[in-house]
Amino acid sequence: MKHEVIEKNIGLMALLMVLAVSIGGLTQIVPLFFQDVTNEPVAGLKPYTALQLEGRDVYIREGCVGCHSQMIRPFRAETERYGHYSVAGESVWDHPFLWGSKRTGPDLARVGGRYSDEWHRAHLFNPRNVVPESKMPAYPWLVENTFDGKGTDTKLKAMRTLGVPYSDTDITGAAAAVKGKSEMDALVAYLQVLGIAVKSKR
Ligand code: HEC
Repeated sequence: MKHEVIEKNIGLMALLMVLAVSIGGLTQIVPLFFQDVTNEPVAGLKPYTALQLEGRDVYIREGCVGCHSQMIRPFRAETERYGHYSVAGESVWDHPFLWGSKRTGPDLARVGGRYSDEWHRAHLFNPRNVVPESKMPAYPWLVENTFDGKGTDTKLKAMRTLGVPYSDTDITGAAAAVKGKSEMDALVAYLQVLGIAVKSKR
């Protein structure tokens, strides 16, 4: 019996098991690499400006993703509260993506345009200023930390390597675009574009 050969050889059996399991995984994952719906940016999506990209890095550094997801699921309770559910084409230029999974605070996938810049500044400086019952930490140092422009062009270049369509002018102008701006300016600029490509179509 051929099967007996496999059953009596643990190495061979392990190999074949891995093979069987990976076929299941690969048939689900591989097609996604070739489908337009997962690879093509949605209409109206713009690459982050230099300032927004720096803001995104502040978001990563401060661990905002630990309390906020950026992924609206296609359920009524979600779409009623946050807006159109998230689609893959919105995240094609997000490296790494910040979908998250923990929602101590609300989802931020479509927070862009929901509040004024001033609201965000007051909120990030100390959330209790605008939401008295808030449990969110305060980030007062964001106002003091300013960018000198060094390294921003490298970040855009790295993103271009990953397929984000930055022009040479975007890259050469990156330093000037962020120089003297505070981390607060950058973070607010980033928050204000979250999800607007799809929201504007509704
Ligand atoms: C410890 C968890 C926690 C962390 C970390 C955190 N937040 Fe929050 N966030 C909350 C909670 C809770 C709320 C809801 C209360 C409020 O509005 O302050 C909230 C609300 C918000 C809102 C308003 C969303 C809305 O739709 O009303 C924004 C914007 C926001 N957070 C941005 C950020 C950013 C940017 C960071 C990182 C600098 C951050 N948060 C870090 C818990 C957190």
